Amino acid sequence: MRTQVVIIGGGPSGLLLGQLLHRKGIDTVVLERKTREYVLGRIRAGVLEVGFVNLMREAGVAERMDRESYIHDGTVISYGDMQFGVNFQKLTGNHVVVYGQTEVTRDLYDARAASGAKIVFNTEHVEIHGADSTAPYVTYQLDGTEHRIDCDYVAGCDGFHGISRQTIPLTVRREYEKVYPFGWLGILSETPPVNDELIYAGSDRGFALCSMRNANLSRYYIQCSLSDHAEDWTDAAFWQELKRRIPAEAAERLVTGPSIEKSIAPLRSFVCEPMRWGRLFLCGDAAHIVPPTGAKGLNTAASDIHYLYHALVQVYETGETEGIDRYSEKALARVWKTQRFSWWMTTLLHRFPHQSEFDLKIQHAEVEFLRDSRDAQTVLAQNYVGLPY
Ligand code: FAD
Ligand code: DHB
Repeated sequence: MRTQVVIIGGGPSGLLLGQLLHRKGIDTVVLERKTREYVLGRIRAGVLEVGFVNLMREAGVAERMDRESYIHDGTVISYGDMQFGVNFQKLTGNHVVVYGQTEVTRDLYDARAASGAKIVFNTEHVEIHGADSTAPYVTYQLDGTEHRIDCDYVAGCDGFHGISRQTIPLTVRREYEKVYPFGWLGILSETPPVNDELIYAGSDRGFALCSMRNANLSRYYIQCSLSDHAEDWTDAAFWQELKRRIPAEAAERLVTGPSIEKSIAPLRSFVCEPMRWGRLFLCGDAAHIVPPTGAKGLNTAASDIHYLYHALVQVYETGETEGIDRYSEKALARVWKTQRFSWWMTTLLHRFPHQSEFDLKIQHAEVEFLRDSRDAQTVLAQNYVGLPY
């Protein structure tokens, strides 16, 4: 079989790229290791940049998102007894949008099904061959049978644990990593959100985040130990711990209820360079991971997709290779800025195991500076709503 672009990974990156290319008449095949239900069961991102929303519009899949998402003009930061708002709209003229990754992925799956473009689930042993040649191909197994797809280009959208990144030889690939000594325990509950805006809270018991999906679906996170297991945390223990970390009035009005999902995510900063090797392009979590504090993971995947989409359209429409030649450089320039922001917000609001009294005083001073400085808040707001592509 032959296609123009093989996309490895049917997460949001791969599906969005597939849909954008489909609208330009470029043929793709998506290979996904899991089932659609499994991918949709992963509760992850909730905050989208306007740049992401615009890409969904360009892909023709924003109708439900435009109807059901929520615009957030600002956020609340709390730290001990300090509490203040950061108004993105006033500081940057821009906002973010609350719409779950699950819904984004569902809309993209529906669009792909409607377009008739090929997607293969449950693929095993996916391998990329000849990425540094002019005739790459991808092999995989399905129900024990080997298949081969010849193509022009391969998009590695297969997440942090995928095979695409590993295909780039170690003599070419350089990886940068920082692992944080804690995780996030997250729950989803069918309760009204505690606040209209998200609350990012630093406290002497660790970080907490109050987020939401809709008027009756809340998402909350607390910093936890890496040795914790989600199943050992009862709902009651979670709610009690959350209340101790957020502002007292918020704790008082918090509506609790049974969790419908509970999971722990480790925190990591990671970048792979380069993001292109021959005819293979890495996108999203396959190339980089951020700690979730700045809500940048999915949004940074979207900027990769923006660059790769335009590069591929350019080469197919004009034969010009400038876009694909500069893909890695352009994507990485933005990736490193979102790395910096995510690292900074994580450092600002979490408790670290060996923090000294001095470190805590510095952290406190930094939050105070943010509270009192419009300039500092503008820097946060510019990064949070998303840097330009
Ligand atoms: P993935 O979603 O990991 O998709 C990759 C796909 O490839 C998967 O479906 C996988 O099954 C498939 N795959 C893997 N290996 C293979 C293989 N060998 N063959 C075929 N298929 C394969 N980001 C934000 O922007 N905002 C937020 O608010 C936010 N909150 C988050 C909260 C949490 C708790 C977590 C964990 C993450 C959060 N993120 C957030 C990050 C965001 O979820 C990820 O950045 C996003 O999922 C990346 O999408 P992706 O398509 O690149 O990778
Ligand atoms: C959510 C996750 C984040 O990492 C974040 O910074 C904001 C919101 C969420 O799941 O709603």
